[in-house]
Amino acid sequence: MEIARTVEECRALRAALPGAVGVVPTMGALHEGHRSLMRRARAECGSVIATIFVNPTQFAPGEDYTAYPRQEEADLAVCEAEGVDLVFMPSVEEMYPAGATTTVSVGELSKILEGASRPGHFDGVATVVTKLFAITRPDRGYFGQKDAQQLMVIRRLARDLQLGVDVVGCPIIREEGGLALSSRNAYLTDEERAQARSISRGLRRAEAAWLGGLRDASALRGMVHDEIAAQPLARIDYVSLADAETLAECDGRATRDVLLSVAARFGKARLIDNTVLRVPTDGARV
Ligand code: PAJ
Repeated sequence: MEIARTVEECRALRAALPGAVGVVPTMGALHEGHRSLMRRARAECGSVIATIFVNPTQFAPGEDYTAYPRQEEADLAVCEAEGVDLVFMPSVEEMYPAGATTTVSVGELSKILEGASRPGHFDGVATVVTKLFAITRPDRGYFGQKDAQQLMVIRRLARDLQLGVDVVGCPIIREEGGLALSSRNAYLTDEERAQARSISRGLRRAEAAWLGGLRDASALRGMVHDEIAAQPLARIDYVSLADAETLAECDGRATRDVLLSVAARFGKARLIDNTVLRVPTDGARV
């Protein structure tokens, strides 16, 4: 496994990689969620690049940029174990040379939900992912459905900028008890962690109701909301039921595939999770 810390080293090592190249962009503190993306890339590509970079431009002032867990040695061991060929782990100065003023913004999609709660977040994500694609020139990029709106933003930028990168979405990996794996789970106390399981419990309740035929948007949102709100340590940021293609918020009855998504704080951790509720296509009546 090669390690590149500068853009120049990364470009040179990338040029020597055989076959189709898959890239797995991460901010490190690697867990099973990240590993699942690496495994998928390993299975589908001739060569795999992982990037590890805690991107300052996607954190708003006052967010957890400084506190974000950093564990270089352990992360490199994970990459090695997953058969990654090249790890790109640049410094902030390397990624953002002094005087750089160009940013990438995908428009409306980046202003709602996570974008409304975290202004500027998706411009930071879109800019860094575009740069990582330009530096690693992948055939495929692997991203988790855990960050559903981020996945949509990245699909959009790859399409609009005609980058020639196939964006692959991968399923959410959860721990026993349902909590979606996240580097931010490290901030949780035992008590907060126990209560944070209400997020996935709420999503599962709504999923079951959806399968049972419930289509009322506010009732579905309410099931998730109430499950989480029953926890004394929870502070809900939003519960959204939105069109899975456009993220337009649903009112009344849901008639198309929808994304049910949540952001909630437990102590220092701001957690997100989601599930896609699909309209049956097999002609089944609901
Ligand atoms: P990070 O939070 O480190 O996540 C890296 C990738 O792992 C993302 O595509 C994310 O969706 C995926 N991931 C995280 N937890 C997951 C889980 N439980 N199951 C499946 N996939 C999971 O997302 C970022 O970093 C950054 O915004 C980045 C894209 C690297 C740009 O800076």
